[in-house]
Amino acid sequence: MIYQPREDSFLLQKYVKKYAKGSVLDLGSGSGIQALTALKKTKEVLAADIDKEAVKLLKAKGLNSRFSNLFSNIKEKFDLIIFNPPYLPNSKFKDIALDGGKKGYEVLERFFSQVKNYLKKDGKILIVFSSLTKPKKVKEIIKKNNFNFKLLEEKKLPFEKLYVVLVEKFL
Ligand SMILES: C[S@@+](CC[C@H](N)C(=O)[O-])C[C@H]1O[C@@H](n2cnc3c(N)ncnc32)[C@H](O)[C@@H]1O
Repeated sequence: MIYQPREDSFLLQKYVKKYAKGSVLDLGSGSGIQALTALKKTKEVLAADIDKEAVKLLKAKGLNSRFSNLFSNIKEKFDLIIFNPPYLPNSKFKDIALDGGKKGYEVLERFFSQVKNYLKKDGKILIVFSSLTKPKKVKEIIKKNNFNFKLLEEKKLPFEKLYVVLVEKFL
């Protein structure tokens, strides 16, 4: 089922409005909320998702959309890569939109081991994740891959906290 925008989507969207420029990749595009927001700032937006149903929906909405398992089907480089990943640990639901692996950060770990090949010079990354994703570990993964970690916003919800982070290459 295509992920319908929730708190995490809206929190990330606030920063997509601020940072979208040049060429933008919305990875894990789902309903297309981030790609559609970025399109208000730039015409060069690519949406990609592992869920073929989501890709079909965005194509029908006229977006440039394609199937990709992380970067498996991406060759281009971008000024901004947006990713609202599946980030819940041990998810009982076995939902590709929610299940971040046993510990919750495994999808982000794979993402950060590959993303540098898809960023232009001075390219940036915007991500959102939860206190359930083990924020210390996420920060460690980001630093290990030679990126800077800048917390843009932290939002407390009843059962978790959400974090929006801007990630850039070390100079
Ligand atoms: C939490 S939803 C976010 C949807 C939307 N971007 C938003 O902000 O509401 C995560 C999305 O990532 C997609 N996804 C999960 N694993 C993926 C992977 N390995 N490669 C690409 N997309 C993936 C899911 O299908 C889902 O659409």
